[in-house]
Amino acid sequence: MSFVSIEHLQKTYSGTPVFSDINFTISKGEFVTLLGPSGCGKSTLLRCIAGLTPVDEGKILLDGQDIVPLNPQKRGIGMVFQSYALFPNMTVEQNVAFGLRMQKVNANDSQKRVSEVLQLVELNDFAKRYPHQLSGGQCQRVALARSLVTRPRLLLLDEPLSALDARIRKHLREQIRQIQRELGLTTIFVTHDQEEALTMSDRIFLMNQGKIVQSGNAESLYAAPVDVFAASFIGNYNVLDAEAASRLLQRPVASRIAIRPETLGLSLQGEPDTLIRNHSLLGNVIRYRVEVRGVELIVDVLNRSAADLYPDGQRVALSIDSSALCEVA
Ligand SMILES: Nc1ncnc2c1ncn2[C@@H]1O[C@H](COP(=O)(O)OP(=O)(O)OP(=O)(O)O)[C@@H](O)[C@H]1O
Ligand SMILES: [Mg+2]
Repeated sequence: MSFVSIEHLQKTYSGTPVFSDINFTISKGEFVTLLGPSGCGKSTLLRCIAGLTPVDEGKILLDGQDIVPLNPQKRGIGMVFQSYALFPNMTVEQNVAFGLRMQKVNANDSQKRVSEVLQLVELNDFAKRYPHQLSGGQCQRVALARSLVTRPRLLLLDEPLSALDARIRKHLREQIRQIQRELGLTTIFVTHDQEEALTMSDRIFLMNQGKIVQSGNAESLYAAPVDVFAASFIGNYNVLDAEAASRLLQRPVASRIAIRPETLGLSLQGEPDTLIRNHSLLGNVIRYRVEVRGVELIVDVLNRSAADLYPDGQRVALSIDSSALCEVA
């Protein structure tokens, strides 16, 4: 039996539906990510699960029990928000202990649990500090500790890393995943960052305009987008209509085609029918914008050395791996 089961969940704000029929299940210990653009309903869905926003219809089963009628405190759910919302007048340990005080856990047990969880997020040495004496990444770890200390049945993380710089983000996402695995904690993580979703998740639910448009593991979402939205949201696909695809492939094509930029190759050997329009250096990858048979494409090539760079205006041969072409709706 699944540990979390969302059935026909529906939410409307003053006549405007945010989502009208959300259904999914999550296994115990699974780390799933809701990925989607701004405004698609990710936070609203998390808030409904946490009980911070009422739902209009549907069921949220947690370990077999419908938690929709329960108030947030009774759900056994921990949530971390994008803005960490720490109490500024409380120290790190007081912030973390707050939830235990609400649960009337006695002082000795509380102290032990706070110390354990601060160790888990590597903040023992900061227990006596106040939030204004911490960095953003440290505040975010306090927020995580605060939600873990109550030993939730389900952990909800709403873009917990988006305010942090790239290096700390990477470090913290590894730390979150490691803690989640150690505790076997069933987790729903929200992000609009495809890289974050692809690297962290057991399974991804791709959302658009209040609907889950595709779900699966990172490989399946990356390699087989179901529609133009999925192809444009994950992996910088080239999406061609049937007519452009027919011209490019020089055979009749009946549907739209998505082509990943890194499956295309450029070379000085072969027919030089492809014009380098321009290029940009993305670090380890060079992204070329090329034109071939009247079709514009993005081609990503590994940046091995400056000597390999094709200058703008150069003519080269394009190779297409036909097994990497995806038909999309
Ligand atoms: N309290 C509210 N009252 C009315 N409309 C709301 C309310 N909260 C959210 N909405 C609307 O519901 C839709 C979904 O919002 P939500 O915050 O769930 O999006 P999101 O996917 O989390 O976006 P982001 O990535 O920007 O955080 C948006 O169109 C938003 O304007
Ligand atoms: Mg949001």
